[in-house]
Amino acid sequence: MNTMDKTGIGAAVPPETGVAGRVAALLARMSLAEKVGQLAQISGADFMPGPKAEELIRKGGAGSVLWLNDTRRFNELQKIAVEESPLGIPLLFALDVIHGYRTIFPAPLAMAASWDPAVAEEAQAVAAKEARAAGIHWTFGPMVDIARDARWGRVVEGAGEDPYLGAAMAAAQVRGFQGTDLADPERVAACAKHFAGYGAADGGRDYDPVYLPEAHLRNVYFPPFQAAVEAGVSTFMSAYMDLNNVPATGNRWLLRDVLREEWGFEGFVVSDALAVGNLVIQGYARDKRDAARRALEAGLNMDMASGAYLENLVDLVQDGTLSMDQLDEMVRPILTLKVRMGLFEHPYTDETRLEKVVALPEHREAARRAAQRSMVLLRNEGGILPLSKDLENVAVIGPLADSMEATEGSWMVFGHEPAAVTVLQGIRAKLPGAKIAYAPGPEIRRDIPSPFDEMHAGTKKPVQTPEAAEEAFRTAVETARGADLVIMVLGENANMAGEFASRGSLDLPGQQEALLKAVSALGKPVALVLLNGRPLSINWAAAHVPAILEAWEPGTEGGHAVADILFGDVNPGGKLPVCFPRSGSHAPLYYARTLTHAPETSPMYRSRYWDSPTTPLYPFGFGLSYTTFAIADLNLSAQQVQVGDTVTVTASVTNTGQVAGDEVVQLYIHQRWGSDSRPMRELKGFERVTLQPGETKTVVFHLGPDELKYWSTQANGWIQEAAAFDVWVGADALATLHAEFEVVG
Ligand code: NOJ
Repeated sequence: MNTMDKTGIGAAVPPETGVAGRVAALLARMSLAEKVGQLAQISGADFMPGPKAEELIRKGGAGSVLWLNDTRRFNELQKIAVEESPLGIPLLFALDVIHGYRTIFPAPLAMAASWDPAVAEEAQAVAAKEARAAGIHWTFGPMVDIARDARWGRVVEGAGEDPYLGAAMAAAQVRGFQGTDLADPERVAACAKHFAGYGAADGGRDYDPVYLPEAHLRNVYFPPFQAAVEAGVSTFMSAYMDLNNVPATGNRWLLRDVLREEWGFEGFVVSDALAVGNLVIQGYARDKRDAARRALEAGLNMDMASGAYLENLVDLVQDGTLSMDQLDEMVRPILTLKVRMGLFEHPYTDETRLEKVVALPEHREAARRAAQRSMVLLRNEGGILPLSKDLENVAVIGPLADSMEATEGSWMVFGHEPAAVTVLQGIRAKLPGAKIAYAPGPEIRRDIPSPFDEMHAGTKKPVQTPEAAEEAFRTAVETARGADLVIMVLGENANMAGEFASRGSLDLPGQQEALLKAVSALGKPVALVLLNGRPLSINWAAAHVPAILEAWEPGTEGGHAVADILFGDVNPGGKLPVCFPRSGSHAPLYYARTLTHAPETSPMYRSRYWDSPTTPLYPFGFGLSYTTFAIADLNLSAQQVQVGDTVTVTASVTNTGQVAGDEVVQLYIHQRWGSDSRPMRELKGFERVTLQPGETKTVVFHLGPDELKYWSTQANGWIQEAAAFDVWVGADALATLHAEFEVVG
C-alpha cells in the first residue's frame, strides 16, 4: 500500500502507537530536508522576500506559517502540505493573538490590573476560540516579560513589574489559551515570550542590550516563565536582545540549562522574528551558517522567518558539523505538538465557522466584564464620581474620546479593522437623553513614526497643520465651556505603546496637558479618563483634576465599560500592576528594591533627587473604589517556625462604605537579613474580594518555602534562610498593617 497517498504518511501512522510512537515513525521516514523544513517557520505575508510559501511547503520545507490571517488561504496552504508535500505533515498556523482575535479584550497590562487571574484566563479562552475558528493553531502569547521601566513600549503586553503577580497572570493565560487538552478544537497552543530579560533593555530602549545578574533573572524575571512551564505551555519564544552579551536566541544556558534541564520543559522554542539571522547583525555569528549552527546547538528549535535554518542546516548535517541526532532532537517536539493537537486528523478549518463564533454575545459580555474589572480609579476628590445619570449637558473632549484604535490598543491581529465602542459612544449610550458635545482637540502623533504604521489598514491621515491644531484647541475649550460637566479622554495612541514604541518622556503626548489645563480653568467639574498602555507621569492632573480613571487599552467594549464605571453601574476595583513614576527620567522605578544605608523611608533621605521626589506618583497595587475598606486583624499562625515550615497569615477586610465593591488584599514580606540583601517588600499573596456594605471577609495567605526562598548570589543557588521577616497586609505596596515572625534553622 502506498502510505504516501492523499492523506499523507501522518494519517497512515496509526494513533494506537501513541504520541511518541507516531512521532518516531514519522521521523524514521523523513528525509534530512524534510526535517529541516519542520524547523522553519515561513512568512505567509507578501512583505517578505524569498521563495513563495507554496513552493517551500510543497517541498516539505516548512513546519509553520506566520503573518497570515485568512482561513481560505490557510486551507489552501494546508492542502499543499497534506496532499503534495512528501510526507503530508500538516502545517502549524501561527499568529500574534495577544488580547483577542475579533473580540478585543483589555491589553495584558490592563488585565493584570484586575488582579484577577480568572479575567485573563477567560479572555484568552475566548481569544483562542475565535482564533482557532479562523484556522490559527498557535499564538505568540502570553508575553510574560517583567517590565520595570515604563519607557519601554512593550510594558503594555505584559503583567507589569512584579514576578508574583506576573506568574499568576502567565499561568492563567496559558490555561486560557490551551485549556486542558491540546486536541480541543476551541483552543490554541500558547507561547511564553520573550525568553528572557527583554523588559530590562538599557534605558527602556526597545531591543537594546540587557545586563541582569543571575540572581535578578531568577528572582524577578524567570518566575512568570517558569509558571508558564508549570501550566503546560507548549512553546517558548527566545528574546531578541543580548542577555549579558549572549543573544537570547543563541543562549544555551537559557534554552537548555534553565528551560529544559532545570524546569523540564518538553515543548519547543521558536526564535523571535528573523532573530536567528540577526545573530550576524548583532555581531555574534560570523554569517548565517554560523548563526544557524549556534542557534540550533543552543536549543532553538524553530527559526522564525530568517531562512538561516532552511539555507544551512542540510549542509551542516551533511558535512558532519551537526549530527542527525541533534536535528531529530529539535524536530521531535514540533511533530509532537502537531500530533497532540490532532492536526493529522483535522488539518483543515471550516470556512463558515468564524463568523458564527465571533457573533456569540458572551464574547462581548466577557470583554466588557474584563474591561470593567481592569480599570483603576486613581483619584476621586470630593467623590465627584460616580456621575449622575440625570446630567443633561456633557462635553466629551480629547483626541482619544472617539478613537477606536486607542480603545482597542496595541497589537491588533493582521488585517483587523478596529471596531471598538469608544468612550464617546459608551457615554452616549449611557445617557440617551442628554446633550453630549464632542471635540477631539489637537491630534497626537509620534515624532518618529513606527515601522509598523505602514502595516495597519486604513487611510493615513495627513499631519495636522499648526493652524488646524490651534483651531481644534479653541473649539475643544469652547465645547467644554458650553457643558455642565466635562469628561476628558487623553493618553496615548495605539502605536505609542507596544513593540518599537519606547519613549523618553512619560508625559501626556502633544498638547493634551495644555488642553486639560485650559479646560480645567473653566471651573467646571472635570473627569479624566486615560487610555494608554504604560504608566504616565500625570503630575498636574494628579494634583488638579478631581477624578481620574485609568482605563488602559480597554478593548472592543471599552467605551461601555468606561461609562459603566463613570456612571456608577460598576464600582471600580482594579489596582496598578506597575507604579507610576513622576517622570520618564525616574525609570526604572519599582517597589521591590533593596534597602540602602539611607532608606527613602527616613525623613532625612526622602528623595534621591534634589529637584523632585523619587517616590512614585501612584504606588504599585494602588486603586480606589466608590466605597471604603478597612483591613485589620492581621494574625499569624506562629511567631516562630522552622525552615521549611509554613506560616498562615489571616486578615479581615470590611466594606465600610455605602455600596458594594471589590478590594484587592495584598500581602508583602521582607526578609530582614540574610546571605543576600532582600527587597524591602515583595508581594507574596493577593486576593480580590467582593463585599457588600458592612460585610467582612477573612483572607488567608500561606508563607511556606515557596514564598520564603530566593536565589542567593552568595550561595549561588536557591536557599531558605533562618531570619526575621516583616509582613504587611493592605491595599497597596505602602500597606502599614504589620506583623513579624522568625524562621529558625
Ligand atoms: C516580533 C515580536 O517581538 C514578537 O513578540 C512577535 O511575536 C513576533 N514579532 C511575531 O510577530
